[in-house]
Amino acid sequence: MLVLLRLAPYFKRYKVRFLLGILFVTISNYCSTAIPPVVGAIINGLRDQHTNTDFITEAIIKILLLTGGSGVFMMLTRMTIIVGSRLIEYDVRNDLLRAIEKQNVSFFHKYSTGSLMAHATNDISALREFIGPAIMYSANTITTFIFAVTLMVHLNASITFVALFPLPIMAYATYAIGKKVHFAFKDVQEHFGSLTSQVQEALSGVRVVRAYSREEYERIGFNKSSTEYSQKNLRLAKIQSMTMPSMMLLVGLSNVLVLGYGGYQVMKGKALLGDLSQFFIYLNQLIWPVAAIGWVMNLIQRASASTLRLTAILNSQPEIKDNTGTDNAIHSINGEINFDKVSFRYRSRDIPVLEDITLHIPNGTSLGIVGATGSGKSSFVNLIPRLQDVTSGTITIGGYDITKIPIQTLRNTIGIVQQEPFLFSLSIADNIRFGKPDATEEEITRASQRAALHDDIATLQDGYNTIVGERGITLSGGQKQRTAIARALVREPKILILDDALSAVDTSTEEKILTGLTEIMKDRTTIIIAHRLSTVKNCDKIIVINNGLIAEEGTHSELIQLGKLYSEMYERQLLEQEIGEYGLN
Ligand SMILES: Nc1ncnc2c1ncn2[C@@H]1O[C@H](COP(=O)(O)OP(=O)(O)O)[C@@H](O)[C@H]1O
Ligand SMILES: [Mg+2]
Repeated sequence: MLVLLRLAPYFKRYKVRFLLGILFVTISNYCSTAIPPVVGAIINGLRDQHTNTDFITEAIIKILLLTGGSGVFMMLTRMTIIVGSRLIEYDVRNDLLRAIEKQNVSFFHKYSTGSLMAHATNDISALREFIGPAIMYSANTITTFIFAVTLMVHLNASITFVALFPLPIMAYATYAIGKKVHFAFKDVQEHFGSLTSQVQEALSGVRVVRAYSREEYERIGFNKSSTEYSQKNLRLAKIQSMTMPSMMLLVGLSNVLVLGYGGYQVMKGKALLGDLSQFFIYLNQLIWPVAAIGWVMNLIQRASASTLRLTAILNSQPEIKDNTGTDNAIHSINGEINFDKVSFRYRSRDIPVLEDITLHIPNGTSLGIVGATGSGKSSFVNLIPRLQDVTSGTITIGGYDITKIPIQTLRNTIGIVQQEPFLFSLSIADNIRFGKPDATEEEITRASQRAALHDDIATLQDGYNTIVGERGITLSGGQKQRTAIARALVREPKILILDDALSAVDTSTEEKILTGLTEIMKDRTTIIIAHRLSTVKNCDKIIVINNGLIAEEGTHSELIQLGKLYSEMYERQLLEQEIGEYGLN
């Protein structure tokens, strides 16, 4: 529960609001607990027959005013505290996204997308429920109790004791049932989650389902899951249906006790009839606040667990960030890259992926990288924008150690097109603009012309405004890759990295792109990873990575002459081309 103290900074921000809320709830309860004495006075007056109509009229006006006052202030309480909880929820959600966005790749191995989504939804709403309802009802329970019990004891201490007797049981009952309801509800929710993803898969994969005529299989699977879902819902309903009857039972018990014991006191002349009627009203005023104790306990438990999970994310520091060694005076760097005895190992693995790499890439030149799948090519280029940090050795760009360059400057210098291009569900123009938020339409058109994408876009009805992805049209693999290339080109980066970014593009388009690149990359640096040797053939230098080492380096003709790995690959690809498989990957 102490973990909830970690939310203190958020509360501080809205301190006035919460204090006002507590003041309002106090006033509201002051009004409502002032009603029973008025009722009691009328009843006592009626019995003694000294009540007149004026007295009753006055009492009724009083009761109306007090009820109205109580209602208005309860409304104000909700408006301050519940709105406050929404404001904190908003802040926490933003902080969470910010915390997640600055994390490195390794963070996303620890947390799956699904679990992050769950934190962002379930945990944050658990917090909101704690901040809103839990605080409001705690304040409500405490103030009602103080006012009501003080007045009750003042009236008759022994009846008060008897009346309050069943209330702790009631608080415990709501707590216990509430807990059961929560778990049953969670079960329902989780099942609903899997049911939705099942439907989503079946729908997005509908073509595969048809092609393999697996409709019946899918239908049976869905049916089973759906039945299970309704059973879980029934179970929840059963538990929920226990809540009201058990409350009623305990309320009835309290009333009977007050009636029995209180009636006896009245008979003995130790209490007045009007006092007894006041007890009934207080008892009814206390029921909901007491039941709320159990409910609030549940909210607090859930919120504690959620806060623990959320603060773990909020406090996790990205491993790669600017630090005291960063030289903020570095604003611009050229494209000369130098690797000096660089080794790299993923923390989750024992053996290094790259070992002792020493390589100089002069500014304005192009480097081709080839090698078998899994040989370490992507890992190699990811070290340049510091998506991962080297394990040992140094990388310099423009003569500066990259760990000294402010990360923003470093990454702004580089345009990287990753192996699997990711497009957002936005227009094509916006996807390209992602590389440079203030890009003009001309710049976007130019970038896509250079990526040999422009002519494809011209055939689309909405042109650059065509929405792609889930909410729009589906682009072919090659079109996606070219959009990603345009996104990198629009930045006019000093260093352009294409990680297998032309694999789905046909050879003639590829040639067009590469020719365009040589022109714009004249005094910039280009690194191209490719599977097809034709892609890298004209690079100033080509390296072959094999088992984490640079096995061969030189120009295309030098490597052919060497007659080893590269020339073997070349021979094989020529052969493949001849038998017609080439270009279909
Ligand atoms: N995030 C990661 N964590 C652990 N191992 C990884 C990770 N990414 C890649 N690897 C491993 O590193 C090796 C090199 O991968 P990669 O650089 O992607 O090769 P390539 O791009 O040449 O196909 C592979 O064995 C791969 O399984
Ligand atoms: Mg790769």
